[in-house]
Amino acid sequence: MLVYVPASACQAYLTDPIRFWRHESAYAGSEACGSCHSEIYERQFGSNHAASLRPASEVSQLTGGLPLARRDRASESTLTLAGVTPDGIRLRAEMESQTSEAMLRWAFGSGVKGITPVGQAAGGSWVESRLTWYESLQSIAFTTGASQYDPTNAKESLGRTLTRKEVAECFGCHTTGYDPERLAPARGEMGIHCERCHGPGLEHAQAAAQGRPPKSAIFNPGSLKGFPQVQMCGACHGRPPQDNDFDALRLLEQTPHSVRFPSQRIVLSRCFNETFGELACTSCHDPHVDVADEGDRFDEACLSCHDRKTRQHAAICPVGSADCSSCHMPKERVMRHSMFSDHWIRVVRPN
Ligand code: HEC
Ligand code: HEC
Ligand code: HEC
Ligand code: HEC
Ligand code: HEC
Ligand code: HEC
Ligand code: HEC
Repeated sequence: MLVYVPASACQAYLTDPIRFWRHESAYAGSEACGSCHSEIYERQFGSNHAASLRPASEVSQLTGGLPLARRDRASESTLTLAGVTPDGIRLRAEMESQTSEAMLRWAFGSGVKGITPVGQAAGGSWVESRLTWYESLQSIAFTTGASQYDPTNAKESLGRTLTRKEVAECFGCHTTGYDPERLAPARGEMGIHCERCHGPGLEHAQAAAQGRPPKSAIFNPGSLKGFPQVQMCGACHGRPPQDNDFDALRLLEQTPHSVRFPSQRIVLSRCFNETFGELACTSCHDPHVDVADEGDRFDEACLSCHDRKTRQHAAICPVGSADCSSCHMPKERVMRHSMFSDHWIRVVRPN
């Protein structure tokens, strides 16, 4: 699907997990952006977006206290994170008299919810580790979803085998400037940095350095209003259906798991549908920082509309005057070990 952005940006944004940018201009690297936009760079560099993919050998939650073994009673297998090498973490699976090994090289997830390693088994096939570190447990447990199937041999016990397409998609959403032809990302591509959301920016950086008008060569997603922006973030945070696709909308309402996808839930809200493009992700989020660092920004966002002084058409709450999201966007446990905030803003009633 194509989303055309304003002509000044000269770009079209593709909502595809592997190819995001229609034009193939060169990347400058986020450090280059930081030389001029230092404040944003400092904040973004420390964010969970930036840490959403790292070399597994550098992630302390995974490397602390090894070797570490977990026994899976259902399949009578034992999984061991055996030790760290410069290449990654060795995962060993034993079932009956069989043993299988994988090198876990990549750690997905910053750790705010979970960290799942991905690597390659002997022979080269790709696996999503059956062991994940969970923030809520502060330890390593079986990856959510992994308990739905019982491995029948040691190799299956290592984790879910990923196809090449799945691998490219995992990396596609967790990297910046990634080349899917190579499959394995380079060190500098890991994590979500400036040019993942702003597009390849070498031209902009050079124009700015030479004193030419720099705006012409960089895309600002802040220029997208309402649905197009929800779609842009939704390339990773869940693609939203069009507003006339009633079947898809009804299905989302009835699927509790869709709470994991803010872009799909927000379009169910009256706040979104009755403000004609005024509500977008950036109405509430600064995409350069984590939610924990956003302070009172969420209440301020609600009150920018739901306030008697400023607005006529959005109602005033008869119940609460602060901490609005705790009641109207409750956190739901949609995955076994992780909570997500429901972005379908509404009066939540039992059933
Ligand atoms: C040599 C300095 C320099 C470098 C390097 C640089 N920028 Fe900029 N950038 C600017 C200037 C100057 C502006 C215009 C500011 C203004 O007009 O308010 C700007 C504007 C922007 C805007 C806003 C555009 C708009 O239309 O609102 C974005 C987004 C941006 N830069 C992102 C980046 C990214 C991403 C990188 C790295 C690829 C980068 N910049 C590298 C100087 C630089
Ligand atoms: C390239 C894929 C991608 C795009 C595009 C993207 N995100 Fe994310 N976002 C992620 C991933 C992956 C995480 C999880 C990071 C982690 O590992 O904790 C995340 C996490 C977040 C978080 C939670 C941060 C925290 O506090 O832990 C917010 C808020 C967020 N994204 C908002 C946005 C918004 C708003 C946009 C659009 C401007 C956007 N994202 C675009 C992939 C993306
Ligand atoms: C369409 C884009 C997309 C693809 C493809 C994708 N992710 Fe993510 N991933 C996200 C976003 C967005 C988040 C943050 C929100 C969330 O957790 O759902 C995230 C979060 C995560 C997290 C941390 C949160 C958690 O659930 O504990 C892990 C681990 C993760 N992804 C692993 C993977 C792996 C492994 C693959 C491939 C099998 C993959 N992702 C494919 C977008 C994607
Ligand atoms: C997850 C997507 C995402 C990432 C990653 C990201 N940005 Fe942004 N950026 C945005 C969005 C969305 C806006 C518009 C914010 C708004 O209008 O409220 C924006 C706005 C900007 C602006 C113009 C507005 C301002 O606040 O001055 C600059 C400059 C900018 N970003 C630079 C950067 C740089 C530099 C990096 C890397 C260090 C970066 N961005 C990383 C999504 C992102
Ligand atoms: C861009 C403006 C805007 C923002 C921002 C906004 N809303 Fe709304 N909201 C509306 C409008 C318009 C309606 C529907 C008309 C009405 O309230 O009378 C609405 C409806 C609601 C309703 C009633 C829903 C229903 O199903 O009847 C609740 C509850 C609500 N909003 C809470 C919130 C909360 C909490 C926030 C912040 C997290 C928020 N809104 C942010 C504009 C907004
Ligand atoms: C009306 C305000 C509002 C809008 C609009 C909004 N969010 Fe959020 N978002 C929140 C609140 C509130 C939280 C929970 C913050 C907390 O945990 O303290 C949150 C949390 C998140 C998280 C962290 C994981 C979670 O579920 O708790 C992600 C990711 C996220 N938002 C993405 C998005 C994306 C993408 C968009 C646009 C489609 C968006 N949000 C639009 C208010 C908003
Ligand atoms: C303690 C939970 C709680 C908090 C906190 C809370 N609300 Fe509500 N809100 C409710 C309940 C319950 C209702 C439904 C009341 C009813 O219908 O009797 C409601 C109703 C609403 C409505 C619909 C009113 C109407 O006439 O249709 C809006 C809009 C709203 N709240 C916005 C907000 C905003 C904005 C905030 C933060 C400033 C907020 N709420 C804080 C529980 C809460």
